[in-house]
Amino acid sequence: MPGKITKAVFPAAGLGTRFLPATKAAPKEMLPIVDKPMIQYAVEEAEKSGIKEFLIITGKSKRTLEDHFDSAWELEENLKRKGKKALLREIKRLNHFHFAYIRQKAPLGLGHAILCSKPFIKDESFAVILSDDIIDPDDDLLGEMIKLYEEHEGTILALQRVPKTERHRYGIIAGNKIKKNVYEITDLVEKPKPSAAPSDIAIIGRYILTPDIFKAIETTPPGKGGEMQLTDALKTLINNNIPVYGYLFEGKRYDAGDKVGYLKATVELALKHPKIKKEFRKYLLKTLRIIHK
Ligand code: UTP
Repeated sequence: MPGKITKAVFPAAGLGTRFLPATKAAPKEMLPIVDKPMIQYAVEEAEKSGIKEFLIITGKSKRTLEDHFDSAWELEENLKRKGKKALLREIKRLNHFHFAYIRQKAPLGLGHAILCSKPFIKDESFAVILSDDIIDPDDDLLGEMIKLYEEHEGTILALQRVPKTERHRYGIIAGNKIKKNVYEITDLVEKPKPSAAPSDIAIIGRYILTPDIFKAIETTPPGKGGEMQLTDALKTLINNNIPVYGYLFEGKRYDAGDKVGYLKATVELALKHPKIKKEFRKYLLKTLRIIHK
């Protein structure tokens, strides 16, 4: 029996250049979608899938991430005094997670960020969540991936079909379908030119990794932009005949890593938010009517 997946790593030490200047002094992962920072969606998703221990890889200008999940005594007292019970519950809920933080001293790539988690992970398999890929809270992608891991005991990547025009932004897989929505991956190409993409299936920001990944990252030379790329290390696993599987996700993902994706995520999640959806929908419809005139 493979060990249970109880740990999740949230790499959050990137520079977030696509959001500058907003991310000059504040982490991208703290940008709010409606009323919650992106990292909180990610942490809540992991909790829903049974994860118990959370590691955030932080870097420069990332202190607010730690503050967000810390207790806030003065704020709590203030809300208590004012009788704002629902808000108080919401704020207090954030303190019950057990977090560890490791600082990535320089943004040397996602592979390097994951390598920084080695002292926390030791020799277990673990989940990795990129918080700017937001999975609709009604879906349970990570839960499905954990089930698949328990069946295959191997690396599991989350996959999604992407249109031709977007393939150059992702790692694209080649693989053999072994059952509905499950692939054994035979090759990966990072950000291919349209003619070089081996399929229309992209890797998205959820991974179940085995401890084999650490050696693979250590032994894989830096890739695009001189960064230690996770995709290159995954390719090393495949080249060494260590099985890598993919789970094709058919639910809703919001790619909030760039400005337009972030705005789409904000609009769609606002339209689902119980407190504002009605008013926001009315506003959107009115605005669209004006634009179409
Ligand atoms: P991205 O590719 O989105 O990079 O990283 P980024 O720096 O966040 O944003 P841009 O491209 O400059 O706009 C994917 C994830 O990996 C983390 C990021 O924080 C993000 O969650 N990451 C990336 C690190 O933790 N360390 C790195 O060195 C690079």
